[in-house]
Amino acid sequence: MNRFEGKVAIVTGSATGIGYGISKRLAKDGANLVMVDMDANMIEQSASEIAVRTKEVEILIGDVSETQTAQEAVNKAINKWGQIDILINNAGIGGINGNIWELDVAEMDRVYRTNLRGVFSFCHEVIPHMLEKDYGRIVNIASIAGKEGNPRMVPYSSTKAAVIGLTKSIGKELAGTGILANCITPAVVQTRILEQFTPEQVQYMVDRIPVGRTGEIAEIAALVAWLASDECSFSTGAVFDISGGRATY
Ligand SMILES: NC(=O)c1ccc[n+]([C@@H]2O[C@H](COP(=O)([O-])OP(=O)(O)OC[C@H]3O[C@@H](n4cnc5c(N)ncnc54)[C@H](O)[C@@H]3O)[C@@H](O)[C@H]2O)c1
Repeated sequence: MNRFEGKVAIVTGSATGIGYGISKRLAKDGANLVMVDMDANMIEQSASEIAVRTKEVEILIGDVSETQTAQEAVNKAINKWGQIDILINNAGIGGINGNIWELDVAEMDRVYRTNLRGVFSFCHEVIPHMLEKDYGRIVNIASIAGKEGNPRMVPYSSTKAAVIGLTKSIGKELAGTGILANCITPAVVQTRILEQFTPEQVQYMVDRIPVGRTGEIAEIAALVAWLASDECSFSTGAVFDISGGRATY
């Protein structure tokens, strides 16, 4: 199915894990991509694997917490294709596990800069170009932690809750235009982000998934692909659960 033929997508944090899975899925369905990641080696490798098999891929090595990264990503897309149809704000970090009284403010700032400030910057830079064409699909990758509030994960849980709030706000700001903005809240998926957490913390999160397994990257990518497509037409500012039953709201 080439439902993204002629469409241009920016995917942040796309060198590995969920972002790479989303990139592969969008490219397979016909999208041209700007893949953004701070890991220079891995993004080159991942982009070349996608480019060999499918569509044209531009890469941007950059840190989403720096505002110029969003500007540079936009420039890449506009200079090459003249449009941006899809924005996937996926780059995120887990942060250090600890109770709030054990963590310092610098850790909070570090997680905030990637998980929330990065999403703000990319939306801020991309949306004017979507408004010009009166078309866009924005999908922000939040987390079940943002709905539930995991203990010993305050920076992560609170910044992911903020991504949900940001999505609800821009959904309303853009309502009535051709731009839809939604977010998803996955439970545990086996990726490298789990290496940032203690084994006990990962067990805590896995134990709370009623279906008794972790999510697959392809399952996340399938939901994101639908939200990024024209088939998604009556949802905006919404939170899509993909947590194996952990959240029923
Ligand atoms: N894996 C899970 O269990 C899970 C669950 C819920 C939500 N999420 C969210 O999904 C998203 C992807 O997570 P993942 O599990 O694939 O993680 P991952 O660690 O496997 O991959 C994250 C990618 O983002 C990149 N990245 C991180 N910070 C960046 C920055 N400041 N600038 C540019 N690139 C940056 C990394 O280099 C890496 O390639 C994150 O937002 C994460 O919070 C993951």
